[in-house]
Amino acid sequence: MALALGVLISGRGSNLLAILDAIQEGRLDAIVKVVVSNKANAVGLERAKERGIQAVFMDPKPFAQKENSREAYDVAVGTLLQEHGVECVVLAGYMRIVTPALIRMFTWKMLNIHPSLLPAFPGLDAQRQALEWGAKVSGCSVHFVTEGVDEGPIICQAAVAINEEDTVETLSARILEQEHQLYPQALQLMAQGRLQLEGRTVQVLQ
Ligand code: GRF
Repeated sequence: MALALGVLISGRGSNLLAILDAIQEGRLDAIVKVVVSNKANAVGLERAKERGIQAVFMDPKPFAQKENSREAYDVAVGTLLQEHGVECVVLAGYMRIVTPALIRMFTWKMLNIHPSLLPAFPGLDAQRQALEWGAKVSGCSVHFVTEGVDEGPIICQAAVAINEEDTVETLSARILEQEHQLYPQALQLMAQGRLQLEGRTVQVLQ
């Protein structure tokens, strides 16, 4: 049975499109049930709709007045995902810290992609951080989402060499190419039930 995905985005959604392509080309045994954005103007919402995928803007504003507003928003997002039958949550450029309230609804069923070789350069502007540090190699990582930002067990990584002439833009573009390969591959391992957690190490079952 195809793995039921819910994809959370905030922006252009190129990883979302790479996932949809992989599904269409038979490289990923999954189905995207719903795309959710915390930003009304996320281009990825339109891209998803063009492909016939249900895409929802969940406005954080009405939650801002409530006590525990971040958790309340996350419970609403989690409930929406559950209502769509989502089994696995895919963070793809979701620029919002996910609270334990949502993580608990999808324990070890939530993945993120980050544009560095974690644990190096977590947080914002990872490509800029790598350049400013003078790193010679960076890349991208797919990991399980846990409460610490960009700290969860690593599922897979791809390395990208840094050239002397690189700018944030050129490096980001080369890393993004790798992201588009890596994320569908990681999700396919998930879909095949081949990811096994041992401590904080992810074993890929043959
Ligand atoms: C990617 O670089 C991803 O690693 C980071 O945010 C960016 C999202 O890009 N988490 P897109 O919206 O998938 O094009």
